[in-house]
Amino acid sequence: MGLPWDFHPLDGRLVRLDLLRPDDLAALHELQSDPEVCRYLLYEPRSLEKVAEVLERDAAATRLAEPDDYVQPAIRDASGCLVGTMYFRLTSVDDRTAEIGWALMPRAQGRGYAREAASLLLDLAFGELGLHRVYAELDPRNEASVALCLRLGMRHEGQFLEHMWFKGEWADTGHYAVLEREWRG
Ligand SMILES: CC(C)(COP(=O)(O)OP(=O)(O)OC[C@H]1O[C@@H](n2cnc3c(N)ncnc32)[C@H](O)[C@@H]1OP(=O)(O)O)[C@@H](O)C(=O)NCCC(=O)NCCS
Repeated sequence: MGLPWDFHPLDGRLVRLDLLRPDDLAALHELQSDPEVCRYLLYEPRSLEKVAEVLERDAAATRLAEPDDYVQPAIRDASGCLVGTMYFRLTSVDDRTAEIGWALMPRAQGRGYAREAASLLLDLAFGELGLHRVYAELDPRNEASVALCLRLGMRHEGQFLEHMWFKGEWADTGHYAVLEREWRG
């Protein structure tokens, strides 16, 4: 298995995934302060100060070795502009499992960027990292995210009803996953 793993950029046809940098602050703030983007994310729209703090923390997360290690790379378009971020967290080393997540600026949605960015991470997960299973958890009302899971070939594994108190109401959580053999198939 390819752990520990130190981050290196991942290149696709449409996007590149690479680490966040200090000069991403304005674009990351545009993303993370957008109420539409944050609607189904766990956090509320963030201030510039909060985004600066998060950027410093996430830019330094570059190694996957232990459970809960994560990377939060920028999704960059062909001109190198940050258009979103991916999230990839090693949840278990013994079970070779990781969680994946995504967020794109509204102006970058509908172009296949998230699908390609997620595919790059799934290729990494089941190739270089030698993982067995990758899953996503989401609010089932988040239709764009559900559609992305299905386009990626992730199976709907179940739905936890009123599983969490989320932004002032009870919300369900949908569970989607793909195994290494399913991804290769
Ligand atoms: C979830 C999210 C990342 C999905 O983004 P997206 O742009 O819909 O996803 P993709 O990058 O896969 O793009 C797919 C769309 O691009 C279209 N598309 C255009 N060109 C394409 C191409 N070359 N390749 C693939 N798809 C293409 C597809 O047809 C599809 O549109 P459709 O759904 O109308 O058919 C986005 O809605 C988002 O960031 N939401 C806010 C944050 C959030 O909720 N995150 C998830 C929390 S669980």
